Amino acid sequence: MLRTIHLRSDLAFQRCILPECNGTASLDDTRFACPKCEGLMDVAYDWNKLPVPSSMAFFESKWSQRHLPRSFSGVWRFHDLLPFAPPEMVLTIGEGQTLLQRADLVAQYTGLNSGNLFLQYEGMNPSGSFKDNGMTAAFTHARMTGAKRAACASTGNTSASLAAYCSATGLMRGIVFIGSGKISYGKLAQALDHGALTLQIAGDFDDAMQRVQQVSRKLGIYLVNSVNPFRLEGQKTIMYRVLEGLRWEVPDWIVVPGGNLGNSSAFGKAFMELKELGLINKVPRLAVINAAGANTFNLLTGQNQVTWNQGKPDYKTTEKFFHAMDEKNLRASTIASAIEINRPVNLSKALRALEFCNGVVTEVTDQEILDAKAKVGAGGLGCEPASAASVAGARKLTGQGVIAPSERVVCILTGHQLKDPTATVAYHGADQKTFDEVLGVRGVRRAGFANRAVQLPNSLDDIIKAIEVFS
Ligand code: F0G
Repeated sequence: MLRTIHLRSDLAFQRCILPECNGTASLDDTRFACPKCEGLMDVAYDWNKLPVPSSMAFFESKWSQRHLPRSFSGVWRFHDLLPFAPPEMVLTIGEGQTLLQRADLVAQYTGLNSGNLFLQYEGMNPSGSFKDNGMTAAFTHARMTGAKRAACASTGNTSASLAAYCSATGLMRGIVFIGSGKISYGKLAQALDHGALTLQIAGDFDDAMQRVQQVSRKLGIYLVNSVNPFRLEGQKTIMYRVLEGLRWEVPDWIVVPGGNLGNSSAFGKAFMELKELGLINKVPRLAVINAAGANTFNLLTGQNQVTWNQGKPDYKTTEKFFHAMDEKNLRASTIASAIEINRPVNLSKALRALEFCNGVVTEVTDQEILDAKAKVGAGGLGCEPASAASVAGARKLTGQGVIAPSERVVCILTGHQLKDPTATVAYHGADQKTFDEVLGVRGVRRAGFANRAVQLPNSLDDIIKAIEVFS
C-alpha cells in the first residue's frame, strides 16, 4: 500500500538516464526501470524550487547538532543534497561516521608524494562497509512507499547491511540472495545473526542478481540493490565527506573499486550535481579499479571502446560482449569476493560518470590486491580485499604515469578488515598449506609483506629470546 501522502513529487521524481528517452516515473515507483526503455533511472530534483545552501561549508553547522539523529548521520546531515524524503520519514542508524585519513606509508607504496594520499575509510559504518550509506536512503524510500519486505542479491556486504537495517529498525523483513560458496564468513555471519531470510542459490552473484530482480517484481518486494537509484543518493554523501575532510578542496583523483559500479555511478552523480549547483569549481578524475578476474568494465571501456558517448552508449557492442561471455560460460573469479561480478548492473551510469569525471578504468591482479591490502594494514587501517583494489589501482596508475606523484589522491576503502579474515590470515599465515589452499588456487604466489606468527614452545626463555630477536 503506497503512502503517497508523504511523497514530494513536485520537487523530486525519477528520470531515465538516457537524455533521448527522458522517460519519467513518480517518486513512489519501485520498479527502478524506465517505463519507456527499461533502462536505469536517476532520482531527479527541481533544484530551482529547493533550498540549496550557497556553499558546502554550510554543512559544518550540523556538527553542533549531533544530538539530532539527522545531523548525526553522515548521510542525512547532507539532506539538502538528497532531498527526496520528508524529514519525518528518514530512517537512520547512525551511518556515515567515517574518516578520511592521510596515509603517508601507503602513499610511499603507491608512488605518491608524502601528504598526497588519503584513505576514505568506510569500514567504520554500523555494518562495516560503505553499503550503509545507501541502505539508509533505500530504507527511507522503502518506508515512504510502505514496503514490508526488502530483498537484495549480494556478494555479502549489501546483505549484511540490509539485514542490519531490518533488525535495527524492525520495519521490514529482509531477504537476501547469495551465490553458493563465494561469500566470506564475516558477511554471512552478519546476515544470519541479524535474522535475514538467507537464500543461498546454486550459482554466482550474477545469477543471484537476475533472480532477485525477477522475484522482487513478481512478489512486490522492495529491491535494495544499487539498481535502486535511491540507494545511490545515499552513496553520494561519501564524496561530500571526502570534500569535507579536505576542507572542501576537490582532490585530483578519486580511486574506487568497481563491482556492480554503484559507487562509481553515485560519485559521478554527486559531482555532476555539485557542479550544476555551483558548489564546486573543479571536478576530480575518477579511477575505477576492477579485479583482473572480474574485469567487464575494464574490457568494455578499454578493448571495446564503449563510452557514454553523451548519452548514446554503443549498446550493440555491450550486448555482443555479454553474449560471448554467456556462450563461453565465463564466470568472475577473484579473491576480492565483494567485486566478483561480471555483469555490473550500473554499467551505463558508470560510463556517464567516467565521461563527466574524465575517468580511467584499470584492473589489478589478486596478488596486487593482497599486497596492497597488507600495506594498508601496515599503515594503520584494516580493509577487506576488494577495498584494497583501490590502493593497488592507484599504485598501478602512478607507475604508468597516469597519476602524477604530486597529485592529490583519495582511495576509497569500502569495507572493514574483519569482513574477510580468511584471506588475511592465509596471506600472513606461517602455514604454507593454508596459503596454497586459500590463495594459491587464485594465482597468488607470494606474500611479500607477510607478518608471520612465530611458533614457540610454552617456555619463558624461548618467549623472551623471540621478543629480543624479533622486536
Ligand atoms: N567493495 C566492497 C567491500 C563491496 O562490498 C562492493 C560491492 C564493492 C567494493 C563494489 O562496489 O558494486 O558499487 O561497484 N559489493 C556488493 C555486495 C556487490 O553485494 O555487497 P560497487
